Amino acid sequence: MEFESKIRTIQWVNNVSRMVDQTKFPEEYIYVDIKTGDEMYDAIKTMIVRGAPAIGIAGAHGVVLYAQEGKEKWGNISVEEFKTKLLEKCDYLASSRPTAVNLMWAVEQQKKLIKETHSDINTLIEDLTKQAIRMENEDIEINKAIGRYGAEVVPKGATILTHCNAGALATVGYGTALGVVRSAFANDNTIQVFADETRPRQQGARITTLELTMDGIPTTLITDGMCSYFMSKGMIDMVVVGADRIAANGDTANKIGTYTVAIAAKYHNIPFYIAAPLSTIDTSIQTGAEIPIEERDHKEVTHINGKTICAEGVNIINPGFDVTPHELISGIITEVGILRPDYNKSIKEAFEKQNAVLV
Ligand code: MRU
Repeated sequence: MEFESKIRTIQWVNNVSRMVDQTKFPEEYIYVDIKTGDEMYDAIKTMIVRGAPAIGIAGAHGVVLYAQEGKEKWGNISVEEFKTKLLEKCDYLASSRPTAVNLMWAVEQQKKLIKETHSDINTLIEDLTKQAIRMENEDIEINKAIGRYGAEVVPKGATILTHCNAGALATVGYGTALGVVRSAFANDNTIQVFADETRPRQQGARITTLELTMDGIPTTLITDGMCSYFMSKGMIDMVVVGADRIAANGDTANKIGTYTVAIAAKYHNIPFYIAAPLSTIDTSIQTGAEIPIEERDHKEVTHINGKTICAEGVNIINPGFDVTPHELISGIITEVGILRPDYNKSIKEAFEKQNAVLV
């Protein structure tokens, strides 16, 4: 049985990108239309849209928006001149957030298309739009495949701990880590989720609890420091989290705090899984040490709901992500199956399998 989620995070509608505004959670659940490339850059940077797969699709939409505007603004230029300008905009868009590789991956797909032969600008824009819509639809199918594979390793009646939000609201719909939860829940409604709050931006509290509650999946919110306590009490059966970038050896960048959860899971002998599409794997880098970590606004740490929570002038460091070493990861759940250590080998085989399907 397949779980039907009500959530659609981002969609190309009438030549604009319509997305749920995630800065308004949990008080409001509203859609905004992003109409220009620069608006898309800001939407990604300010986290109106967030989560690695969702910002990938936002990137693909953003390229179409720049192309649409370019046709109006750049005057009577040749297809080649148009392409040169558009490729510059692509690089700008891809720089809106540094860690999640899906953004660079999706923009790169659009860049490859731009570099192919096109008789005129309209055909190019049509092709870019078609590719963005295809990627959008594929994202849901990929998540459902991740969900199906992941559900196979969820014990009956399990309590699953997750960190941050790797759900429908971090993807086009359905989710990666929460896709595993949804697929498992469709066959066993006795499973439940423990959601870490995920300081400083509170994606676990604001987003994960919202979407799981909307879909009727039993969820308990805990603060980040509580996870080892519940593990020690035997109350957590497995951990599933998403990923922003995975290196060739399996080291995985995800929201800050994930590494702590993985260490605690290892200590308590609890399986720790990453759920992510192959587009999150960056085989151009060998280890997690090469993953760029976003340094975010210090106000995220010093303030909660606009109110300061610390002494003025205190030093602040605010990395948005950390890297979980591959030794702590029981498996990487992808759309082509669950990859197991040795990840250098299993990741290589997964890409070979994917290419065989594409040919
Ligand atoms: O900073 P965010 O909210 O974009 O970070 C999101 C995460 O770290 C997610 O867990 C990750 O992108 C996986 S999304 C399926």
